[in-house]
Amino acid sequence: MCPSPLPYFLILAVLLVQVSCFHFNFPNFQGDAANQLILSKNSSIALDAIQVTLDVNGASMQNRAGRALYNKRFSLWKSNGAIASFDTTFVLNILNQTSAGGEGLAFIITGDSSVPDNSEGRWLGIVDSRTNGSREAGVVAVEFDTRKSDDGDLDGNHVGLNINSINSISPVSLTGFGFNISGGLDLLVHLQYDGENLTVRVNDVLVLSQLVDLSISLPNKVFVGFSASTSNETQLNCVKSWSFSGTDIDGDDNFSWVWILIPTVVLTMLIIVFVIYLYWRRGRIEDDMEGAARGNIEDEINRSGFGPKKFRLKELKQATANFSRKNKLGKGGFGTVYKGSWMNKDVAIKKVSKKSNQGKQEFIAEVTTIGNLNHKNLVKLIGWCYERSELLLVYEYMPNGSLDKFIFCNHKASTEECWTLNWEQRLTIIRGVAQALEYLHNGCQKRVLHRDIKASNIMLDSEYIAKLGDFGLARTVEGKEKTHHSTIEIAGTPGYMAPETFLISRATVETDVYSFGVLVLEVVCGRKPGNQSEQNNYNNSIVNWLWEFYKNGKITAAVDSRMDANFVKNEAERVLILGLACCHPNPHYRPCMSSVLQVLSGEADPPDVPQERPSFVWPAMPPSFSQMDYSLRGSQLTPFTDLTGR
Ligand SMILES: *[C@@H]1O[C@H](CO)[C@@H](O)[C@H](O)[C@H]1NC(C)=O
Ligand SMILES: *[C@@H]1O[C@H](CO)[C@@H](O)[C@H](O)[C@H]1NC(C)=O
Ligand SMILES: *[C@@H]1O[C@H](CO)[C@@H](O)[C@H](O)[C@H]1NC(C)=O
Ligand SMILES: *[C@@H]1O[C@H](CO)[C@@H](O)[C@H](O)[C@H]1NC(C)=O
Ligand SMILES: *[C@@H]1O[C@H](CO)[C@@H](O)[C@H](O)[C@H]1NC(C)=O
Ligand SMILES: *[C@@H]1O[C@H](CO)[C@@H](O)[C@H](O)[C@H]1NC(C)=O
Repeated sequence: MCPSPLPYFLILAVLLVQVSCFHFNFPNFQGDAANQLILSKNSSIALDAIQVTLDVNGASMQNRAGRALYNKRFSLWKSNGAIASFDTTFVLNILNQTSAGGEGLAFIITGDSSVPDNSEGRWLGIVDSRTNGSREAGVVAVEFDTRKSDDGDLDGNHVGLNINSINSISPVSLTGFGFNISGGLDLLVHLQYDGENLTVRVNDVLVLSQLVDLSISLPNKVFVGFSASTSNETQLNCVKSWSFSGTDIDGDDNFSWVWILIPTVVLTMLIIVFVIYLYWRRGRIEDDMEGAARGNIEDEINRSGFGPKKFRLKELKQATANFSRKNKLGKGGFGTVYKGSWMNKDVAIKKVSKKSNQGKQEFIAEVTTIGNLNHKNLVKLIGWCYERSELLLVYEYMPNGSLDKFIFCNHKASTEECWTLNWEQRLTIIRGVAQALEYLHNGCQKRVLHRDIKASNIMLDSEYIAKLGDFGLARTVEGKEKTHHSTIEIAGTPGYMAPETFLISRATVETDVYSFGVLVLEVVCGRKPGNQSEQNNYNNSIVNWLWEFYKNGKITAAVDSRMDANFVKNEAERVLILGLACCHPNPHYRPCMSSVLQVLSGEADPPDVPQERPSFVWPAMPPSFSQMDYSLRGSQLTPFTDLTGR
């Protein structure tokens, strides 16, 4: 198992959130706290507290002013109108040193860290007589005033909000709340600003709230901290603890940026690494799976004994200019075929469609069947390739393409010249296919059923010699005695499929012969096999059509008119009758391929074919039982919904 990177992300995220805030906390003040504070001349850290004004043995404490500020500036607002919010808590302890006590202490927000020149006494270190009331002061204070210095002061124990002035906007006496600022007791002050509303709580009691836009009177970067002063009347002005936390709307120059940037970069990199890792892992899994699948495919191919060459994908990409469109020869049964060049030889490379699982089966079928075979009328499989889930087959190149384009010439649709074949060529093609099929059925170690004989699967070489190809549906049958291959799916091409295919759901030698018969009729008549969309409609088929000619005793009238009657009449007759015999509805009456060859070579006469096309009867009876009626026709047949026609 891989360790989840999630915890690291969380830690970083928390870090990110923290550093994007302006936050600090002094639970108390000890020596090194001074490093984080700007302490004015008369301020110091002593007795674990900030002494905002002097607290010295012997020295005079009169008429002093001091400031103690946090040494980083806080971004209070941005030119886009955003205003920061903040929340600060501190503990004050102020003790009168003269009977009256004076003058007071304030929490200040200021652009200038230095103490105004003459801000002792009544000025509380906030402003002086020169800057009082002017924007130049740039300071906002929450004062804790312990002495009524003039008529402007409410009393000697009040809180007020001061903006660029020593006079408060809304002074509130704490006497009514029972608090005494200069009484020497700890005063817990909680001050909050949400961008509009400033509130002050003393010992958890809300004593003051005021709507104020701090961005009007303050610069955008401010110091926060305390100021205090004494006059002839003196007091000890202590801050014992302080925490501050604010949303940092853009961070402080060279400080926060770094701390935002580093985690961001690290986080991004981690995510990238993690994503890469995931991809790599998936790739590994796929590789493994592919490796296993390749293993299977190789095993199956190797088990078949002789193996065609195994190609590298790289080689085949090179051979076809990376499967360029201009090398595309066509799109067939289960893939696209490209022309390629390998060792100065033209080859045809079929790229099996990745989508279908059928593709893989067909690929194995093709390599294991055709790869073992060697016959002049079979398309030669040179090699194969299975890499990166690409299945590829390499064949010898057939310059004249497939037979269908020669025999089904669509004058209207074809922009190319419409080739046609002469009688001699047609006969040679039929013989070639017959020899190939005879070889498959009887001539090799294991019986091979092609299962998809049709014009588009017959390739023509430069001499118009027929070569049977596309073994995607082919199946080997163990042992010669067996004649069929059971399939779950019904495979083949409508129009070429024997009627019983739909009932027996299996391929047999006879179903191959039937397809061959259809092919023969097509080649001689130059006509498509029939209505391809309705598999069951045999009335529309070439077989039915020709049988009518045969019945009327003028079978040669069906011969392709494009030959202009340039054919040998009795040869044509024999071939057509042979074709009909192969298309006999009863599989038992179909000749085997060796008999077909004998007829084609003239050694034997074509089998007898009844004048009337026999009805399709099932179960088909061997010749001696044929008079008995076991017909199961039309509506009695279970309809097939699961046709895998191609
Ligand atoms: C600090 O105290 C000295 C006297 O010790 C005084 O002269 C000076 O003005 C004070 N500074 C401030 C900023 O109050
Ligand atoms: C502080 O003030 C109170 C009265 O307000 C007085 O009783 C007390 O003596 C003063 N303390 C000192 C040290 O003068
Ligand atoms: C300070 O300035 C304010 C105006 O903002 C004014 O009302 C007040 O009298 C001034 N105080 C002193 C002591 O000069
Ligand atoms: C402040 O507290 C002292 C005692 O510590 C008391 O004598 C004095 O009256 C109090 N002042 C006010 C304004 O409450
Ligand atoms: C400001 O906040 C305080 C405390 O939450 C609240 O009582 C007061 O009504 C608020 N003032 C305004 C104007 O929203
Ligand atoms: C402060 O005390 C001195 C003498 O010690 C005196 O001259 C001065 O007027 C007093 N100031 C105030 C504001 O009371």
